Amino acid sequence: MIKIGIVGVGTVGESVVKILEDNKDIIRARSGKEIVVKTGVVRNLNKERDVNIKLTDNYLDVTTDDEIDIVVELMGGVEEAYKIVKSAIENGKSVVTANKALLAYHRFELQNMTDKPFEYEASVAGGIPIIKALREGLSANHIESIKGIINGTCNYMLTEMKKGANYDEILKVAQELGYAEADPTFDVGGFDAAHKLLILASIAYNIDAKPDDILIEGIENIDTIDMEFAKEFGYEIKLLGIAKKDGEFIELRVHPTLVPNNQMISKVEGVMNAISVVGDKVGETLYYGAGAGGDATASAVISDIISIVRGSNAPMLGYKKPLENGDFKLRNRDEIKSKYYLRIAVSDEVGVLEKIASIFAKNSISISNFLQKQGNEFVKILLSTHEAIEKDIKNSIEEIEKLNFVKKPVNVIRIEE
Ligand code: HSE
Repeated sequence: MIKIGIVGVGTVGESVVKILEDNKDIIRARSGKEIVVKTGVVRNLNKERDVNIKLTDNYLDVTTDDEIDIVVELMGGVEEAYKIVKSAIENGKSVVTANKALLAYHRFELQNMTDKPFEYEASVAGGIPIIKALREGLSANHIESIKGIINGTCNYMLTEMKKGANYDEILKVAQELGYAEADPTFDVGGFDAAHKLLILASIAYNIDAKPDDILIEGIENIDTIDMEFAKEFGYEIKLLGIAKKDGEFIELRVHPTLVPNNQMISKVEGVMNAISVVGDKVGETLYYGAGAGGDATASAVISDIISIVRGSNAPMLGYKKPLENGDFKLRNRDEIKSKYYLRIAVSDEVGVLEKIASIFAKNSISISNFLQKQGNEFVKILLSTHEAIEKDIKNSIEEIEKLNFVKKPVNVIRIEE
């Protein structure tokens, strides 16, 4: 018999307890052992919970219990979770976590701290087995790129906004449906997706980047007029986490993205997640499924528990040794290469277009599509560019925003084809 302790018995924790009971026949057959939850750690012992396990509010009751083999951390947050996971490791426990924020900051330290199994399938894209796909299934490949819809809240909001929903109202619905993080700015600001991207990038490239090191933009400035441009030119707007290899450099970024509407990932709607991974030998692979929700996330957590019980001891981030040709380097965010879409609000005056076009020309930026829409107050110029370098776009925008007929900050959406 294997005994586990769960730290954080919320929606996912309750689902873990329930699925271990509901599916115990298949879980016992696949793992070879009976798996029993011995203790759950909660903050508030008085809160009603839908589980019948022993509860405590002291994490040491789990991390130092000699009978417990595996500590499952489902509490979220960074530093307190780190302290508890560290205590579990110091007491010789295997660890399973669903905590993407913890891993976004501390995954390399945790890897170096333990020689016991440490699994985290549920930290990225809920029920989709993307960690094991990248770490085991694609381990023979150099990974060319990862592009993922890895925040269900944003995908749900963008899907509804396309149908005409208002941003604030639909965010409220996403919160009510339980998709959003406790602080929804983590979702709409792109930070949750960034945490997940950093985890995937470490498996793909062994790269130790932190959230502050990478370009992160959220969906707060997306307007229905951007959706009209997208429709006109055959795109969908998706919040993507992108990791791309270019020689020795890796680009890591999270931002709203115009994706051609013939790509499979553009068709992913609602709270669903999807991740495209391109390997040099396998070509493109695509993973789709529920990225949030108690049972879907618990499904991934229990798969980790089963792996550990079976005796698998894969290196946490998938590397037994450093790369022979040296580490990949993170590309500076100013050097990112992309195609861009810009929305510029101007007053309707003679010479506006000429001035804007000359600024682009001066910064070596070539325009590919152009649309002008009469708004209530201003004229909206909507245009896309051929591939350009981020710093040239930034310089152009700085100059454009200084023109006195430009009435609002310029909005940018990057294009991925
Ligand atoms: N808030 C997250 C999302 C939950 O919307 O995808 C799953 O990590």
